[in-house]
Amino acid sequence: MAETTQPVEMIKQIGIIGAGHMGSGIAQVASLAGYKVILVDVSKEKTEAALATINGNIARQVSKDTMTQDQQQAALDLITITSDINQLSEADLVVEAITEDEDLKQEIYKDLCPVLKPEAILCSNTSTISITRLAAKTDRPAKFIGMHFMNPVPVMELVELIRGIATEEETYQTCKAFVKSLEKYTAVSEDFPAFIVHRIMIPMINEAIYTLYEGVGTVEAIDTAMCYGAHHPMGPLELADFIGLDNCLGIMQKLYEGLADPKYRPCPLLVKYVEAGWTGQKAGRGFYDYRDGTPVPTR
Ligand SMILES: NC(=O)c1ccc[n+]([C@@H]2O[C@H](COP(=O)([O-])OP(=O)(O)OC[C@H]3O[C@@H](n4cnc5c(N)ncnc54)[C@H](O)[C@@H]3O)[C@@H](O)[C@H]2O)c1
Repeated sequence: MAETTQPVEMIKQIGIIGAGHMGSGIAQVASLAGYKVILVDVSKEKTEAALATINGNIARQVSKDTMTQDQQQAALDLITITSDINQLSEADLVVEAITEDEDLKQEIYKDLCPVLKPEAILCSNTSTISITRLAAKTDRPAKFIGMHFMNPVPVMELVELIRGIATEEETYQTCKAFVKSLEKYTAVSEDFPAFIVHRIMIPMINEAIYTLYEGVGTVEAIDTAMCYGAHHPMGPLELADFIGLDNCLGIMQKLYEGLADPKYRPCPLLVKYVEAGWTGQKAGRGFYDYRDGTPVPTR
């Protein structure tokens, strides 16, 4: 974990748009770091579910004595949930974490920018969309940046910061300090498809699937090889099932199209699993079958 720091002084209030997996996690870590958080979602149920998840996560830490009930209450008191984007008028920094759809994101920026203070920083948690392109449609490309949290946010220690072509140094420095205050590390990435972590990790998974496709090894052999031969905490095929095979395929397609390099072609076996609906843990079946509790290799 990165060293503990105080909240960034110029940031008093954080806006988070999208109360799904990522937005709720970001709200949790920001409130625990002492920031006042306004969590916005079109769906009232999503914001309520997010608050319940955050409460449950922190309660688990309280039961393990890694946090006190006072800290739990203080964090929850700092979070306001709403469906009204106008409540972000006083936010100093906004993290957009809505569904990964470029048109939807552009729509929300169109509504949001007139509400924001001129000096407010706008960050997108997008995994695959160009930061430069998103920024260009806003009124503040200099104050726009990619802030890519990893899933699950409360557990993962890294946040990638992606500078668009127009992102100014001050925006980057403020965001770097903000991430540090969440006790997380930053890695700065230029604005190219899949940034750094996915650019390296997903082609490795794709290569593991090719290794299976070409009959070099079974699912069990490939995962055992990488766990004990490369000290990976989880084999690449098990990891693919965890990430979701549809997500892995989507990222490979972005790399293939965005970089126009055949080395990123998605493995046909990955395509076949996705077409079958065998998208991994969430579907009950992927490279492993999870339906009877104990994962059993499907090849
Ligand atoms: N899940 C991951 O592993 C992961 C990792 C890193 C980054 N991301 C990125 O984070 C973002 C969110 O992903 P997620 O997994 O949390 O998705 P999710 O589906 O869990 O949550 C998205 C939320 O956005 C809300 N939403 C949609 N349109 C909205 C609008 N116009 N205004 C307000 N709220 C709206 C939805 O109601 C939903 O609650 C995406 O850009 C994704 O690429 C996801």
